[in-house]
Amino acid sequence: MARKTVETPCDVRDLDLARAGKSRIEWAGRTMPVLRKIAARFRKEKPLAGTRIAACLHVTTETANLALTLQAGGADVVLTASNPLSTQDEVAASLVSHHGISVYAIKGEDHHTYYEHLRAGMAHGPSITMDDGADLVSAFQFLATNRIKDLAAPIREWVKTLSDAERGKLLSGIIGGTEETTTGVIRLKAMERDGVLRFPIIAVNDADTKHLFDNRYGTGQSTIDGVLRATNLLLAGCQVVVCGYGWCGRGVAGKAKGMGANVIVTEVDPLRALEARMDGFAVMPIRDAAKAGDLFITVTGDIHVIGREEFRAMKDGAIVCNSGHFNVELDLNALEKMSVKRRAIRPFVEEFTLKGGKKIFVLGEGRLVNLASAEGHPASVMDMSFANQALSAEFMKNNAKKLEKKVYRVPLDIDREIARLKLESMGVKIDKLTREQEKYLRSWDMGT
Ligand code: ADE
Repeated sequence: MARKTVETPCDVRDLDLARAGKSRIEWAGRTMPVLRKIAARFRKEKPLAGTRIAACLHVTTETANLALTLQAGGADVVLTASNPLSTQDEVAASLVSHHGISVYAIKGEDHHTYYEHLRAGMAHGPSITMDDGADLVSAFQFLATNRIKDLAAPIREWVKTLSDAERGKLLSGIIGGTEETTTGVIRLKAMERDGVLRFPIIAVNDADTKHLFDNRYGTGQSTIDGVLRATNLLLAGCQVVVCGYGWCGRGVAGKAKGMGANVIVTEVDPLRALEARMDGFAVMPIRDAAKAGDLFITVTGDIHVIGREEFRAMKDGAIVCNSGHFNVELDLNALEKMSVKRRAIRPFVEEFTLKGGKKIFVLGEGRLVNLASAEGHPASVMDMSFANQALSAEFMKNNAKKLEKKVYRVPLDIDREIARLKLESMGVKIDKLTREQEKYLRSWDMGT
């Protein structure tokens, strides 16, 4: 499948991009001190020796630093794209050329290629899966439950060529997996609830040092970055509608407000809606928000949050994008049907002209705008997310026999240690409880 002959099997855009990728990976690594520390220990201790990892993640400079950390720990890593538009081609080239890591990812790859790449990850015969959105685990799940027809064509055709023994070996070799994102964790918990989860999963997303920072500050900043790079829009005075007020929505709304936008939040959860209102945002149903917004950003993790009715209600010139994991939040099929013309007007900006002449602009094909038209979250925040990934892989390797087919949190001591190391790297010192204070907290009859 490699487009240029190299020893490392791969499918990347152009290996000649490797030099540019190398310096970008180094640049990101500078602000990933926690991961660096883990890599230094991994290099000495090789805790992942003998582990085969298939990582289906966004192929970015930050992910490259994770892959190198896992490799330093002795793992045999294959990296495949977790989204067709998020790959940084020069990073993919450098991982192959400079580090001998097999990468299967090309920015803008079509549906077939995306799944062909996922197949390559499966064929690696992983002992640990590392997902961002659960696509890899889902494919193994369909294989395990013999739902071969539900597999995407490239995987289905490959699976058909495997003997029962080969299929069995593939499945029984997996000791567990990790999951990076909210959407993936939701899918995996559904598998657990339905009793079909095949192996233990560590929900990296649910670690405090992940979602409180990556989802809030990372998605917050990188989503605005993606919108601005694609459009060069002035946010001051702009009516921004943020759909969803989870940790990502909180981040996006807060950053938009910080740049002078008037922010409207839409929600289905009363508690979150109340929080948004008390955080100072207007809260209303999407039907009403649709009429008011200049820019719409979906971060709900759910399907068809903005559809025909909302598009119909929007102002001429409304800009619509998504920063949730999958490209299902905007009903672009409905928009396409309502339109008489569709054209690319700038990179990552498509203009839809509706009957009657109204124009609606869609960014990044409705895929994660922060990774499609920008670079994803800054390295400093991915430092903590990927420290969780690296330490969770080590934990999985050491504890596989004790773990059941369940979705687990990252152990609290790992989560706390990452926070401690991050603070240390920032030169921030904090206080310690005195003996008296510790005792007070343990007692119920002291100092009343
Ligand atoms: N998800 C969001 N931002 C990312 C990044 N920079 N690298 C990998 N995954 C991401």
